[in-house]
Amino acid sequence: NNYALIMAGGIGSRFWPISRTAHPKQFIDILGTGKTLIQQTFERFRNIVPQENIFILTNEIYADLVLEQIPDMDRSRILCEPVMRNTAPCIAYGCHKIQKLNPDAAIVVAPSDHLILNNEEFIRCINKSLKTASENDCLITLGIKPSRPDTGYGYIQYNTKKIDDDFYKVKTFTEKPNIELARTFVQSGDFLWNAGIFVWSVKNILHSFKKHLPEINDIFNEGATVYNTDKEKDFIQTAFTQCTNISIDYGVMEKAENVYVLPSEFGWSDLGTWASVYELADKDYVGNAVIPSEKVIMYDSSNCMVNVPEGKVVVLQGLHDFIVVEDNNTLMICPRDREQEIKQVVADVKQRF
Ligand code: GDD
Ligand code: MG
Repeated sequence: NNYALIMAGGIGSRFWPISRTAHPKQFIDILGTGKTLIQQTFERFRNIVPQENIFILTNEIYADLVLEQIPDMDRSRILCEPVMRNTAPCIAYGCHKIQKLNPDAAIVVAPSDHLILNNEEFIRCINKSLKTASENDCLITLGIKPSRPDTGYGYIQYNTKKIDDDFYKVKTFTEKPNIELARTFVQSGDFLWNAGIFVWSVKNILHSFKKHLPEINDIFNEGATVYNTDKEKDFIQTAFTQCTNISIDYGVMEKAENVYVLPSEFGWSDLGTWASVYELADKDYVGNAVIPSEKVIMYDSSNCMVNVPEGKVVVLQGLHDFIVVEDNNTLMICPRDREQEIKQVVADVKQRF
């Protein structure tokens, strides 16, 4: 009865110039492990649910890329969206479709662009959540102990009421707070980051959609008779254009009352910035992280993050604490502690070329 929905339709604008619309983060081997993030995600879920119960939700412009990177994936289980509407519509689509296949399904919904270091522990957490979600009236999310007041995450405050010993009732869910609020949350010690990995029964999540996002729910409910038939594709083309753009976090998780969190520790990172990639990458004895390493030569250089196309000869002399990244004929060199400013210049750069 267990299913997985992998979301892979984001455009990942933060890793410019490597990640860009044509090639978002989930399709990149950002740590130089030999596998892209979506390949790692797919393999992880293959250990949890039968392969024929895994669906990948993505924009139609990425369908070929998904197939290229995951040749084992059946084309019919790559669910394509004609337009980007964020995560709530795609989850509504996936869940309505699964409901037609199996009304008793339990579903794990996960991003395709995260790093998980401890697969065994991850599998244990998901299996436990799938079991609890199918036996109780709850929406489960996985929570991570926060290490800094990052404004890019959802923050979860929970109380002592529990189900099955490990799942705590969520008191408040605040998506992407401002920096002051994030600081207060982290200092209080009562909050967890939302990992963006959700587990629920199809029955419960569709009930929540009906309650909190009725328009989106109605749109995909209309398709009940066409899912898993050859009319599905045409239906989806129009359905998505009618949806508002909203994430599951704002649309459902902040509002629902029956949310529970499983505090988890499986070596999670959403690899949201170059700093987080640098932190996790293999480094030499002077702190340089270089991907790939064959032709990059460093003299008197330390604590640099270098990520360049394979075969590129790069020489660094006397460079410390810098990010050096090249892709698509675009080279970016930036002090490691000023990475945040890149976001602002990218729009400008794109406009000029
Ligand atoms: N299919 C599809 N369609 N996938 C999408 C779309 C879409 O329109 N938009 C985003 N995604 C995918 C992304 O590729 C990613 O794998 C996942 O959905 C989450 O979207 P992000 O855009 O990366 O969300 P976020 O990082 O800002 O915030 C979420 O994740 C944080 C943890 O990393 C939220 O759930 C936060 O609460 C959470 O803390
Ligand atoms: Mg993300």
